Amino acid sequence: MILVTGGTGLVGAHLLYKLVSNNESVRAIYRTQRKLEHTKNVFACYTKNAQVLFDKIEWVKADILDIPALNDAFQNIDYVYHCAAFVSFEPDKYQQLRRANIDGTANIVNLCIANAIKKLCYVSSIATIGKTLKNKPITEETHWNPEEDNSVYAITKYGAEMEVWRGTQEGLNTVIVNPGVIIGAGIWHYGSGSIFKKVDKGLKHYTSGSVGLIAVSDVVAIMIRLQNSDIINERYILVAENWSYKTFLQSIASSLNAKPVTKLAKPWLLQLGWRLDWLSSKLTGKRRTLSKQLAKSLITESNYDNSKITTTLNFKFRAIEDVILETGNLYLKQAR
Ligand SMILES: NC(=O)c1ccc[n+]([C@@H]2O[C@H](COP(=O)([O-])OP(=O)(O)OC[C@H]3O[C@@H](n4cnc5c(N)ncnc54)[C@H](OP(=O)(O)O)[C@@H]3O)[C@@H](O)[C@H]2O)c1
Repeated sequence: MILVTGGTGLVGAHLLYKLVSNNESVRAIYRTQRKLEHTKNVFACYTKNAQVLFDKIEWVKADILDIPALNDAFQNIDYVYHCAAFVSFEPDKYQQLRRANIDGTANIVNLCIANAIKKLCYVSSIATIGKTLKNKPITEETHWNPEEDNSVYAITKYGAEMEVWRGTQEGLNTVIVNPGVIIGAGIWHYGSGSIFKKVDKGLKHYTSGSVGLIAVSDVVAIMIRLQNSDIINERYILVAENWSYKTFLQSIASSLNAKPVTKLAKPWLLQLGWRLDWLSSKLTGKRRTLSKQLAKSLITESNYDNSKITTTLNFKFRAIEDVILETGNLYLKQAR
């Protein structure tokens, strides 16, 4: 039997759909009943029989920080996909991020070892990979630099990946995927889905940097192929195409027939923006939306090399233009 964590999130829900469609026997953990609607919404993007497939999943209530509940979820499991994480770039969420991402992943790794799990597939991020100068390609060998001004999200995803590598030293078989920004339908109020919402609501500004993009369907297809292969203890950058933010946002706008995103937010505006965001959160207690590190990443050009995964699996990525069009159409049906 397969165990999936994060099944109420974007990646986990699309993965669950694929696994149950393949008639796999699957258990998934969840934290709150309300979030199960996310998974149903994702299933509804694929089929009219969403409920029938959803009912094939055995759901167990467990937080990845709750070891006794997790221990129950691990009974009779052979393979684990660990997709759960706390995704936030808010500096004051650092301790919460550390607990969910580092301590939570350590718990999963420890239970995989204790239960002699055959293989763990862990969803990391390109955030844990280093940077290059002058737009040189970034590969799996481009190492993380702890001296950089890294975001709290990146620091904790890096710590989580280290827990998985520690597991390999203790005999656990793993594969790690490091996706760029994942585009997919069904969850619209946060993550990449919320970018469709912002553009639909009239977002005017783009930034000068670039972004590595991939379809969620490609992410889960690769995860399943890696999990079912003989490959162990490797990591793979999952980026189909590197796009400028301008092209990305304009393409979303055209998929929604929304107003084009035409104004360049100059670097000084972003510098001012994150400072005002900090001040406003101090004065009003509102959550941060633009940290210093996020502002920097929005104006950074990065060029991710996907040749390791394409060569290993002979994988052909879906064209990002098509993925945006398809996701935009589903947004119009589900969220406008
Ligand atoms: N989306 C992207 O563009 C992207 C890019 C690169 C890497 N990733 C990585 O891909 C993975 C999946 O991302 P996603 O976009 O699917 O994230 P998401 O939509 O935010 O979903 C996160 C999932 O993790 C669960 N979770 C969080 N804290 C938990 C805890 N303490 N115990 C149990 N479950 C917990 C959430 O459960 P609740 O529903 O209960 O909150 C939810 O199911 C993450 O590891 C993320 O870092 C994502």
